[in-house]
Amino acid sequence: MTKFITFEGVDGAGKSTHLAWFADELRSRGLDVIVTREPGGTPLGEQLRGMVLNQPMSIGAEAMLMFAARIEHVEEVIRPALLSGKWVISDRFSDASFAYQGAGRGMDWEKLKQLEEWVDLQPDMTLFFDVPIEVARQRLSNNASLDRFEQEQGEFFERVRAGYHRRVIENPQRFRVIDAAQSLDAVKRQLEDIIKAL
Ligand code: TYD
Repeated sequence: MTKFITFEGVDGAGKSTHLAWFADELRSRGLDVIVTREPGGTPLGEQLRGMVLNQPMSIGAEAMLMFAARIEHVEEVIRPALLSGKWVISDRFSDASFAYQGAGRGMDWEKLKQLEEWVDLQPDMTLFFDVPIEVARQRLSNNASLDRFEQEQGEFFERVRAGYHRRVIENPQRFRVIDAAQSLDAVKRQLEDIIKAL
């Protein structure tokens, strides 16, 4: 049964806006849903988020901190919630580390897979909000304060997007690709279809 759902996409794809709506839709159908995010989701994870989003560091340190926050998140929040019968929706999860640290920064894909094995939890379903990088950049330009990732150049995001596409190809049964270049209403209709299928 689908219970652990993650939302992914490049910065500016609009996933966070749709996540809140999606969670409310599931709740209105009587499901017990918690919403969380990465990096973060726990007190330690939120501290690590502050570091990793703002402080320059080596690629290896960046990847390990993302996974450190993730392991804490799984042990303290996600797994207990799933075991107690709740649904969990996370704004980003392991796919983001493959896309950003792997494809974006060039960290070895196989090393990331080892860290992923350590986490030992896969989403039941991942919604990937796919959008051309020009559109995502345009949406981000309305945003006043940009973090260390959001300040990256267009080529970085092209690599991140390609990294997500690689994950979709590697995990076709888990991913649903959303065309996020469309209007908010059109994206909602795509999400409604997914909810109906659940
Ligand atoms: P994001 O969801 O964009 O937060 P916000 O909407 O508040 O800006 O996530 C923050 C950043 O963290 C985003 O640029 C992607 C990055 N990130 C990684 O590089 N690796 C990871 O494993 C995760 C979870 C996030």
